[in-house]
Amino acid sequence: MTDTFYITTPIYYVNDVPHIGHAYTTVAADFVARYHRLRGEKVFFLTGTDEHGQKVARAAEERGVPPQAWTDQIVPRWREVWEALDIANDDFIRTTEDRHVKPVQKLVQQLYDQGDVYLGTYEGLYCVSCEQFYLEDELIDGMCPVHGRPVDRVEEENYFFRLSAYRDRLLAHYEAHPEFVQPEERRNEVVSFVGGRLQDLSISRTSFTWGVPIPWDSRHVMYVWVDALQNYITAAGFGSDEERFATLWPADYHFVGKDIIRFHAVIWPAMLMAADLPLPGTVFAHGWLLVGGEKMSKTKLTGIHPSELLKDFGVDGYRYHFLREVPFGQDGSFSWESMAARYNADLANDFGNLASRVLAMLASYFEGLVPEPPAGVGPEQDLIKLSAEVAARFDERVLAVDLSGALASVWEFVGAVNRYLVDVAPWNLAKEADRLDDLRRCLYASAEALRILAILISPVMPRAARLLWDDLGVAGHLSEQRVPTALEWGGLQPGTRTRRGEALFPRMET
Ligand code: ME8
Ligand code: MG
Repeated sequence: MTDTFYITTPIYYVNDVPHIGHAYTTVAADFVARYHRLRGEKVFFLTGTDEHGQKVARAAEERGVPPQAWTDQIVPRWREVWEALDIANDDFIRTTEDRHVKPVQKLVQQLYDQGDVYLGTYEGLYCVSCEQFYLEDELIDGMCPVHGRPVDRVEEENYFFRLSAYRDRLLAHYEAHPEFVQPEERRNEVVSFVGGRLQDLSISRTSFTWGVPIPWDSRHVMYVWVDALQNYITAAGFGSDEERFATLWPADYHFVGKDIIRFHAVIWPAMLMAADLPLPGTVFAHGWLLVGGEKMSKTKLTGIHPSELLKDFGVDGYRYHFLREVPFGQDGSFSWESMAARYNADLANDFGNLASRVLAMLASYFEGLVPEPPAGVGPEQDLIKLSAEVAARFDERVLAVDLSGALASVWEFVGAVNRYLVDVAPWNLAKEADRLDDLRRCLYASAEALRILAILISPVMPRAARLLWDDLGVAGHLSEQRVPTALEWGGLQPGTRTRRGEALFPRMET
């Protein structure tokens, strides 16, 4: 591995605008990327668009626009959604860019020259929505198992990649690197697929022209997946900036949905082996957002655009929900009602109220200045201990890609701070002149807990984290904080001027 933490999302088809399923992967990867930056690591977080192939060509045709013009007009609609969701990607690759197309042609030419590619005839069943061939017995009632739509019977002369020749090396790699495919269930699926009837892969098409031309045979364009997968190396400088490529590749994580696990965990590593390039660390396949028990998809017209939820929940509420609600890796049903219920419980009540209560007490008892905690110890010792445990567990959970578990540990701390306040009842201490020391101790501890919470939530809710940080008046920018040092208890300076800000998460009427 290189010294850069490199994480990717799939590059999405631009046959239409994004829905919350696409945003699910991108938000998750952004959370992980932000946390690694908080750890002080160099990070390269890549996303982008998959613009070739029949699916995109058809979408353009339906709108009566040439494919390149269509992709040029729709790509900004993707970029604007990522901006609205506070996605801090370091690069955005479009597969129609020169920096992608040229190296892709070069690599495929190399595979051809070295005998990994041959000409043959393919007859099979193809789903355009998946851009994937299926075997007869993989269909469900004769329909595509993902989209439930009819497949096309195709027969054409294609170039083939000798995927089957990599079978043993792939199996050996899964064996030697159990972390390569996650979670476990997906790993088992991949191992049994490759252990079974692994066939060579058709990598070119002659029935349409919207694709990367096969360099040695102008009648053929490349199968979209063969071009698309290579985005992960072309964006890192493969074939255009070898020095940069050496510092970035291999990627640490490819985040994908389980629909495209075989492409990433079988075809992609085999292509890399053929090209004699190192393999990525982990392909992590998360589950699906379901609507009515089925995968949310544009094809089935069940896609919800993120903006429909952003206007109700705000960007932080949006990001929090999807990361917290469903354990990363499992399927989960989406409903507006459960999203609103969780928003009110976790964000408006538990977190937002805690912050506003503490800031309000600082304002009324100490004119907004963080009090000096007196010598000696009190009931805040348990909080101090827990804050260290939570910081360690958060780190461990994010690194294990248990994203909901990481957030659950933060909310365990939120709950503990709330209980601490109820137990110590500073509002009662404030009425007794001889309890001033206890009041100081309690409000220092509460404010310090908020400072730690602001840092912990910053990768998931960057806006609320900054607001809270600014309300606390802490010296130094939040973006300059580094864990674990910044999470050590006692970072808040007595005398710091706080302010009662606006509610971080206004309660939602349901
Ligand atoms: O497959 N639930 O692009 P795509 C969760 N271009 N995640 C979902 C989802 C849902 N209901 N729907 C979509 C492609 N996703 C290729 C990828 S990569 C080299 C090429 C997410 O536009 C999830 O990450 O069909 C899924 O794998 C991806 O969007 C598919 O996006
Ligand atoms: Mg798809």
